[in-house]
Amino acid sequence: MTLTEEKQQDLIKKANQVRLKAYAPYSNYQVGAALLTTSGKIFTGANVENAAYGVTMCAERSAVFSAVSAGERDFVAIAVATHNGGSPCGSCRQVLSEFGLDINVLQVDDQGKLIQQNTLRDLLPGAFQSKDLLE
Ligand code: THU
Repeated sequence: MTLTEEKQQDLIKKANQVRLKAYAPYSNYQVGAALLTTSGKIFTGANVENAAYGVTMCAERSAVFSAVSAGERDFVAIAVATHNGGSPCGSCRQVLSEFGLDINVLQVDDQGKLIQQNTLRDLLPGAFQSKDLLE
């Protein structure tokens, strides 16, 4: 599955749609993520905050966990939508890196404008990976 212009637009649209479902009463920073699998499916997630701030779940990890729970582990790209095209946090980079450093990360704003595009390899140099457990 290559990231065609059409798929990319679909991914961006779905990230912004799910962003509207974010539960973020504390930060008021809504995040939506849409994750494309090599099989062509799209899994989405939004951030879900909590009065005990530390148990908040990010949008990207929510999308990854949803995909993995459906038996999907091969990912092409993830679109992350915020009002300003913000950057994925370190924990989400680490979780995504488990499934491949070639995953494309598209940061988009609430108008669907592509603000930044990187691979996981760019975003998390020297990622701790399963091979590190063996050495
Ligand atoms: N957040 C995400 O959903 N993804 C990120 O990569 C960065 C941060 C959420 C967590 C929290 O609900 C809000 O954004 C502010 O940090």
